[in-house]
Amino acid sequence: MFLDFNFASIPHIIFGAGRLNELYELIPKFGNNVIYVIGGSSLKKSRKWDEIVYAMKKKNVNFSEISVTGEPTPTLVDDAVKNFRNQKIDLVVGIGGGSVIDAGKAISAMLPKIDSVRNYLEGVGSKTHDGVKIPYIAVPTTSGTGSEATKNAVITEVGNEGFKKSLRHDNLIPNYAIIDPQLVVSCPKSVTASCGMDAFTQLLEAYVSPKANPITDALTINGIKRIKDALVSVYREKSSDIAVRSAMAYGSLISGIVLANAGLGIVHGFASSIGGLFNIPHGVVCGTLLAESTKMNIKRLEQLGTKGENGLLKHAIVGALLNGKESFEDINISLHCSILVEILENWTKQLNIDLLGKYGITTTDIDNIIERTRLKNNPVHLMREDLNEILLNRI
Ligand SMILES: [Fe+2]
Repeated sequence: MFLDFNFASIPHIIFGAGRLNELYELIPKFGNNVIYVIGGSSLKKSRKWDEIVYAMKKKNVNFSEISVTGEPTPTLVDDAVKNFRNQKIDLVVGIGGGSVIDAGKAISAMLPKIDSVRNYLEGVGSKTHDGVKIPYIAVPTTSGTGSEATKNAVITEVGNEGFKKSLRHDNLIPNYAIIDPQLVVSCPKSVTASCGMDAFTQLLEAYVSPKANPITDALTINGIKRIKDALVSVYREKSSDIAVRSAMAYGSLISGIVLANAGLGIVHGFASSIGGLFNIPHGVVCGTLLAESTKMNIKRLEQLGTKGENGLLKHAIVGALLNGKESFEDINISLHCSILVEILENWTKQLNIDLLGKYGITTTDIDNIIERTRLKNNPVHLMREDLNEILLNRI
C-alpha cells in the first residue's frame, strides 16, 4: 500500500509522578520573566501553588499570574494580553485543566500581536496566525483534552451568536508538556469521568478518521490499551492510585497527539456547536454523545458495503481490544462492533455522564444545533436525521 501522510511535531514531553519539579530547572533556559496562567482556585487549594511560588522566589524569577475560570473567551485572552504586552515576557506556563492550557496557549500566541485573538480564529476572523509566540510550557491537572500536545487553542463565546473556534498553527504546540499524574489526584470525580470520556472519544475518533495514518494508529492502540481498564476504576475507587492516574494521563496525552494529526469526528462536531450555544463542559458533551454517535457511524458504515469495510474493521478492533482481545486476526467484525457500542453504553452509565437536558438543552434546540454542526473527519457521512436521532436519544 502506498503511504502518504504528515505528522506534526510534538512537545518535549516530561512524564512521571513528581516531575513538576523539573519545571523550575527549565524556566531559566527561557528567561527570568514568567506569566503563570492558572485556574480559579483548585491549584491554590492543593498547596501546589505555594510550592511553585516558593521555587520562583528561590530562583529570583519575576512572575505574574492570570486566573482563568471557565473556558477562555476572546475578551479574557485580549484583556490578559493587553496587561502584559508592553512588558518583557520570556515564558508562559499554563497549569490547569484543558481550558487553562488553551488560555495559556492563546495568551502565548497573542502577546506578540497587536490586535484581538478574534481576528485569528478559524471561521470567525480573516487572519491566519503566523506561529510567532512567546515560548509555552503546558502542565495539565486533568486527564482529558490532550491540549498539552495540540497545536490549537479553543476559544469560546457562548450565546445565540456564540462559537467555539480554534486559534491554530503548528508552532502553537507547547514547547514542553510536563505531565505529572500527582497533579491530577485532586481532580473532582465528575471532572475525572467526563475528561476520561473526552480522552477516549479523541482516541476513537482519531483512530477511525479517514486522515489516520500508521503512526497515529499505533499510538492510538497503545493509548487505548493503557486507559481501557483505568477509565472506570479511576472514577470509582482508584482516584488516588498513581499508576491508574498515570494510565489516564498517558491516554489523554496520546489522544492530543493523535487528534492533532488525524482529526476528530462527529462527537467533536457536536462539542463545537453545542459548546458555542450552551454552558456545558466539553467532556460531558463528548461523553454523553459517544455511544450513540458510534452506534450511528457503525450503522451507516454497514450500509456502505465494501467502502465501509475499513471503518468497520477499525471499530471492531477497538471493540475487541476493550473486550480483552490481544490479536485481531480472526476478528468477527459485526460482533465486536456491537461489543464496542455495548461497552461505551456501560461506561456512560457507570461514569454517571449527564444527559444534555441537565444543561438546559431541549428538543426545540436540536435544529439550531444541527445547523451549526460539522462532521469534521467522521469516517462516514451522516444525514440530518442521523444527527437528530443521536441528540434526541441524549436530551
Ligand atoms: Fe475533546
